[in-house]
Amino acid sequence: MRRHGGGLVNPLLQRALLAAEHAGEFLLHQRPQSLAVESKSTATDAVTEMDRASEALLVAELVGDGDDGVLGEEGGERRGTSGVRWVLDPLDGTVNYLYRLPVWGVSVAAEQHGEVVAAVVRAPALGVTWFAGRGEGAWRVDGDAPARQVHVGTETDLARSLIATGFGYDANDRIRQVDRLGSIIGVVRDVRRAGAAAIDLCWVADGTVDGYFEEGTHHWDRAAAGLIIVEAGGVICGADGGPPTDPMTVAGNTSLAESLATLVSR
Ligand code: IPD
Repeated sequence: MRRHGGGLVNPLLQRALLAAEHAGEFLLHQRPQSLAVESKSTATDAVTEMDRASEALLVAELVGDGDDGVLGEEGGERRGTSGVRWVLDPLDGTVNYLYRLPVWGVSVAAEQHGEVVAAVVRAPALGVTWFAGRGEGAWRVDGDAPARQVHVGTETDLARSLIATGFGYDANDRIRQVDRLGSIIGVVRDVRRAGAAAIDLCWVADGTVDGYFEEGTHHWDRAAAGLIIVEAGGVICGADGGPPTDPMTVAGNTSLAESLATLVSR
């Protein structure tokens, strides 16, 4: 272990930090003028050559010819034998990236025997990196400043809470999600839809927003940010208060996450 801006950095975390930095710099500086865009699950679910190239870069750097497993958003799934699996969202916020909006990032989580032990979310256009090692706290780096330890916010009253959320890519899902939003927006301070689930979750971890809920995220969206939230003293859960699920993910401090989970379950 070595120290990083005051936080202990385990070896998997060191590898994750470096790989996320390389993928992030690649996405920031090598973006072609015009991007080749394809559709995935629906016409609005975009994937670009940069999503794929970023995943290839991460897999090559983190796994190479080694024995680690990998689960990547763009199809990279490989069973390993080492007990370590890398869970990757090579470009979270693809639509923002496409439109040159700055809220996009690279998410890298290292699981050891099924448990996330190291996590990095890097948002190059914002100049921010969040990272955590299990038991080592959650940290945020702004530009060249030293890492500072972060904690979830303390607001427990939904009426005074700013809540981040997102929508899926399927039109029918979105209509249902907006219906649900209708019963939430009048109860909370306000809602933000920034466009990258991993960054929304990291904003919960560092207290930028108070809470988060979203239907239809995937393990790669929340694996890294989930550990960052837990290490920041927060909770990430499903509608029933158990582990987060694809159908529903909720996050916040303990009390707010519980209130939010109850609210989204109605
Ligand atoms: C999406 C973004 C978005 C969220 C969607 C995700 P992608 O990830 O995180 O904010 O609302 O649920 O799928 O497709 O940009 O990697």
